[in-house]
Amino acid sequence: MKSPDFNQIIDRHNTGSVKWDFLDQYLQLNQTDLLPMWVSDFDFQCPKEVLQALSSRIDHGIFGYSERDELYYQSAIDWFSRRHKLTLHKEWFTSIEGIIPGLSLLIQMLSKPREGIIVQGPYYGSFAKIITMNDRVLIENPLIEDTEGYKIDHSHLEQILDQYKPPLLLLCNPHNPTGRCWDHDELLQLLILCRKYGTTIISDEIWADLLLPGQKFTSILHLGSKWHNHVIAATSASKTFGLASLRISNFLIPNPSLREAFTDRLNAHGLDVFNSLSMTAAIAAYQYGDTWLDQLQDYLAENREWFEKALASSVPWCRITKAEGTYLIWLDCRDLGLDDNALQQALIHKAKIAVSMGCSFGDKGKGFIRINLGCPRQYLEKAIAGLAQLTQ
Ligand SMILES: Cc1ncc(COP(=O)(O)O)c(C=O)c1O
Repeated sequence: MKSPDFNQIIDRHNTGSVKWDFLDQYLQLNQTDLLPMWVSDFDFQCPKEVLQALSSRIDHGIFGYSERDELYYQSAIDWFSRRHKLTLHKEWFTSIEGIIPGLSLLIQMLSKPREGIIVQGPYYGSFAKIITMNDRVLIENPLIEDTEGYKIDHSHLEQILDQYKPPLLLLCNPHNPTGRCWDHDELLQLLILCRKYGTTIISDEIWADLLLPGQKFTSILHLGSKWHNHVIAATSASKTFGLASLRISNFLIPNPSLREAFTDRLNAHGLDVFNSLSMTAAIAAYQYGDTWLDQLQDYLAENREWFEKALASSVPWCRITKAEGTYLIWLDCRDLGLDDNALQQALIHKAKIAVSMGCSFGDKGKGFIRINLGCPRQYLEKAIAGLAQLTQ
């Protein structure tokens, strides 16, 4: 099969794309000539094997009620074993259309109104949304920022665990927006503290497969069965293969009573039938997607290297954060001396790019921006030319 051409520009307008078609509505902008580098989906076609599997499934023509079959579980189990040396068991799987709806139902199940839920700041905006819209209180454990990148502040974490006794900690690993992949020791300390205070960890691992060269992903489930009663890991093929709108994700729950309670919740909402096309795509991606993903990761690494070099020479006021995974780049723009509103106006009117503003990731994000590097190189060239205009 031909190698994918990630440099190919594919027009995404008029496909209902949030990133391209709804940017003015979501970002409340009335300007449509911006280059969209915000939402985290990429501008590449998914693997040909996935397209072929979808097209034969469509040719079959019957789309009655569907359930996950043996291949659905086995392809995911084999993928995690091959790519991450992680052993999963079929009985751990619960499935729901997306990570965010699953997290939201788990918040409802495992906490009470007005109880606190810990997140590491800067935090993914949808975490804040599902915590506060479920009438829970977001407790921020700000990450420590140093020259080596971001680190979890375990001593502040212990203080807030002790003070609020929160039922839940929502972890993001690899971390959106910074791109950190938490290592074994950082996770172990987190597990020790959370177990001490009776806090369950839900680890959102949607970015697990998108790693920079030489980096390793450590799942919360890698740390061994002695922790398994207190953790849930959320995974999906959606971010890895660009299948976000097909909607299927897996919550891996080793603790049988937690799992049963969650399955009951899903059933109570009628969420016990599955989209046949989503399953077809996930199976094909996990069965045949290795080579494509290796090529994608190479392209993304080159994109990042190119972008970082170009920033250093053309946009020297912008400080780059060290990342280990994701296709996001988290940029410190504080040296520009603009507040977030002025920064956004400058990005729109002078740079002509739509980015994710750091302030939407909480207080720790103020003065930062997040740019999505999952696009053909030409877009990055435009973005650099735009950013260079900010000080003109
Ligand atoms: C950390 C994280 N979790 C979840 C999601 C969205 O997941 P889903 O579309 O499956 O709800 C994203 C998307 O950007 C994300 O970055």
